[in-house]
Amino acid sequence: MKLAVLPGDGIGPEIVAQAVKVLDALKSEGAKIELEQAPIGGAGYDAAGDPLPEATLKLAREADAVLLGAVGGPQYDTLDRPLRPERGLLRIRKELNLFANLRPALLYPELAGASSLKPEVVSGLDIMIVRELTGDVYFGQPRGIEVRNGERVGFNTMIYSESEVRRVAHVAFGIAMKRGKKLCSVEKANVLECSELWKEVMIEVGKQYPEVELSHMYVDNAAMQIIKWPKQFDTLVTGNIFGDILSDAASMLSGSIGMLPSASLDENNKGMYEPIHGSAPDIAGKNLANPLATILSVAMMYRYTFADPATADRIENAVKQVIAQGYRTADIYTEGTQKVSCSEMGDAVVKALN
Ligand code: IPM
Ligand code: MG
Repeated sequence: MKLAVLPGDGIGPEIVAQAVKVLDALKSEGAKIELEQAPIGGAGYDAAGDPLPEATLKLAREADAVLLGAVGGPQYDTLDRPLRPERGLLRIRKELNLFANLRPALLYPELAGASSLKPEVVSGLDIMIVRELTGDVYFGQPRGIEVRNGERVGFNTMIYSESEVRRVAHVAFGIAMKRGKKLCSVEKANVLECSELWKEVMIEVGKQYPEVELSHMYVDNAAMQIIKWPKQFDTLVTGNIFGDILSDAASMLSGSIGMLPSASLDENNKGMYEPIHGSAPDIAGKNLANPLATILSVAMMYRYTFADPATADRIENAVKQVIAQGYRTADIYTEGTQKVSCSEMGDAVVKALN
């Protein structure tokens, strides 16, 4: 297995280094994984004048999977739009055709106190958001800012083709089948034609999965329901922009955005794995970040791309164990637990793995 490692910016290099420790531990037991690093985002711009350098994209294409830290930083915010770190991330998703983004939100019982919601609302939480990742208003044409009737207008296009909806529907139904067999499709079909088509295609695909109970919800209501009573959901499927927003909301249920991994998959389960949080420039380089989302992303990599659920379980269990042992990075620290640094957390996971 060949793995492209793209640390990126901000806390990216620190958290990825902890995930690499876990991979090295598995290698030392004989796992055949080859790691190769390359810059992306602001680091790509600094190294090659491009947030997705040619060589990085080539490496990612040739690899079986990609592990990504995070991109972005204030020093890049004034660059021309195509040169900004976020564009590198959007381009690699598109170039590798990673249309299905899996964002689980689950709560470790010990962290219920770290959530801003009441423990009874979030305890035992386990939901999966499937976000379409290569279409929608993120990539739709036309887009731009231009002058019309003497003033500037900004515009983007929300667009989905049937085939785009269908392929992510199949992924979502497949995941729902392996989970609680309940799928909620989220759109805004009371207002948007694009959503009307989304809903029709979901219903059509649903006929091939009679065991899965399909429901539909408008995105505004879904945002409310996720906060009100999240345990009503099992698997959710939604478009790119709605999924971006809902997954941040859902992340708060789990105590900290620093706990949540993600997988972005193509048709053949090749994937890019990244924590759902950003580059956190304010704490970068201070050894304070929570590496668990990145380590859990490695577990997802074993589950989805390497088809090795035993190793995935083992990594997830090691994380559960360090949480149970009371180790906490600053973002999930509560009184009576033991505050550790990013690298100490990585070491603790490696120890628990053995
Ligand atoms: C995410 C992020 C990205 C997105 C940004 C950084 C472009 O918010 O992965 O959710 O909007 O998709
Ligand atoms: Mg986001």
